[in-house]
Amino acid sequence: MPLLAANWKMNPTNEDDALDLVRGVLGVARGHADRVEVVIIPPFPWLLGVSEVLDQSGVKLGAQDCFWEMSGPFTGEVSPAMLKDLCQWVIVGHSERRLYLGETDEMVAKKTAAALSSELGVIMCVGELADHYDAGTSDEVVSAQVKAGLARCSADDSARLVIAYEPVWAIGSGRNADPEHAYKTMRLIRRIVGEMIGAGAARKVRILYGGSVKASNVQQYVELPLCDGVLVGGASLDAEEFAAIVKVTAEVYGHR
Ligand code: PGA
Repeated sequence: MPLLAANWKMNPTNEDDALDLVRGVLGVARGHADRVEVVIIPPFPWLLGVSEVLDQSGVKLGAQDCFWEMSGPFTGEVSPAMLKDLCQWVIVGHSERRLYLGETDEMVAKKTAAALSSELGVIMCVGELADHYDAGTSDEVVSAQVKAGLARCSADDSARLVIAYEPVWAIGSGRNADPEHAYKTMRLIRRIVGEMIGAGAARKVRILYGGSVKASNVQQYVELPLCDGVLVGGASLDAEEFAAIVKVTAEVYGHR
């Protein structure tokens, strides 16, 4: 099933607005839950409240990050063991964490393995910077991130593994990637995943596009043969806009 993830990032700043937002998308998301796996990914403090709204709806919940150890002296961190009863999914290696928090490929690999071992699904983010894109080295950069990030994964993890291809220059910029570029990179990712965990298992790994996705451009991505959904940031903060993205996605995959 395609996956449509709403990454709220560090928004909204109060719980009432968070609950209003999730209530605003719930009807449409629940109505299409048999065709699209919708995952709402709020900041940590709103996870519990949002989980109560989503209860029994078929709409899933995710966290934006986790640590690689399950407990211990790691001030400020949240472990997969703490999340597993609350969430079904966790984002790992988002480019904003790589950029502002110095998250490395090695850390991404450790977090991915820890989250999978706690039965969470992992949305692992990869993507090149504008400089790489301009220099024509996107393939090398993305390949290296995928290889490093999956270093501790096996074929058994495939059904709970999602790789989001998010060119960093496309995130929050309004400059969404050309579908042809997205397609070629997703094809490369699928091939590398196959080399790492076997081609059969790699077919179960879902590959998403992310970066300035909105209702008016989502169709061109979800129509791509290798694309299993999208990761939406800014546009997921507007209930109407996100609901429209859910509808387009369900419509396209309903016809596949
Ligand atoms: P954006 O963010 O949709 O605002 O570009 C996507 C993301 O960072 O996941």
